[in-house]
Amino acid sequence: MENQTAPKKRIFSAIKPTGSFTLGNYIGALKNWVNLQEEYDSLFAIADLHAITIRIDPAKLRAQTLQSYAILSAIGLDPEKSILFIQSHVHEHAELAWILNCYSQFGEMTRMTQFKDKSAKHADNINLGLFAYPSLMAADILLYNADLVPIGADQKQHLELTRTIAQRFNGLYSETFTMPEGFIPKVGARIMSLQNPLEKMGKSDSNENAYIKILDKPEDILRKFKRAVTDSDAKVFYGEGKEGINNLMSIYSSVTGLSFEQIERDFDGKGYGDFKVAVAEAVIEELRPVREKYDMLINDKAYLESLYKAGAEKATYIARKTLSKVKRKVGFIS
Ligand code: TYM
Repeated sequence: MENQTAPKKRIFSAIKPTGSFTLGNYIGALKNWVNLQEEYDSLFAIADLHAITIRIDPAKLRAQTLQSYAILSAIGLDPEKSILFIQSHVHEHAELAWILNCYSQFGEMTRMTQFKDKSAKHADNINLGLFAYPSLMAADILLYNADLVPIGADQKQHLELTRTIAQRFNGLYSETFTMPEGFIPKVGARIMSLQNPLEKMGKSDSNENAYIKILDKPEDILRKFKRAVTDSDAKVFYGEGKEGINNLMSIYSSVTGLSFEQIERDFDGKGYGDFKVAVAEAVIEELRPVREKYDMLINDKAYLESLYKAGAEKATYIARKTLSKVKRKVGFIS
């Protein structure tokens, strides 16, 4: 009885609008968003404010933002269950981020591995936005007082910094922000490149065979898995030094729900060739309905617009309340 009346816990997460997300995004984060929306009060954003920390052509950003919105709708984020919006439509994000900048330390930001990686990669454009990226991310999460943040392993450090900032603010001004927890899947939190299983699968890889895109055609998915780098062992089991196979097993397990033990039993006596085809087929079937739904949605701009406008309105309603509380606490006159 008590459970029925208790308010639902809240989740928030976001993704940068790269236009076509990878299987890594899907398994590490998006698939969990779809599952968790059943149980939680859910908000998800397309992080376009984060996207401009790297130089991006405006027309490309516009197109990719819409494509990203369509993919998220196609994977099953249901407007009746989740609030899906575009970050820049809710100006409270930028406003809270500024305030949180003043409660984030220079030393903390310099320790962020993503900042180090990205500034090495884009040495000609190490802008302040790239540096302050984690405090904008903290603002995203804290605006909605999220209890849970479903993310892949690479965002863990940012989430920990969010907690540090929230704790600092709460300590100074009394309880304001909910302390968020990360939701990082046990299997699939870090899907690796198919060409170099020691590196994370990412869309900026120069080798297209290294990553699967959610919208890839079945024949491309099959070809990429067939070419996946493995080892010379030829036995399907999870183990040290078998990063390529470990990665394929993680993908297969995340998509089918089978445990590693079951997969090892099922492929006992079979070679890598059979296993790669099985993984490819499972992924193709998982993504087929997403691609079909995406093709319909992307041609219905008016519908997409009605969805993202409604999403922004609902998100703003929540964000505004938190922001005014924060402004009052720091001493701004209303
Ligand atoms: P982004 O856009 O890089 O990635 C979106 C989500 O996908 C996960 N992910 C992966 N998971 C497993 N294996 C991979 N190879 C892989 N690649 C990406 C990421 O961990 C992430 O969960 N800063 C964030 C976006 C963001 C955000 C937020 C997230 C902005 N504000 C607030 C949570 C809460 C980012 O760049 O994710």
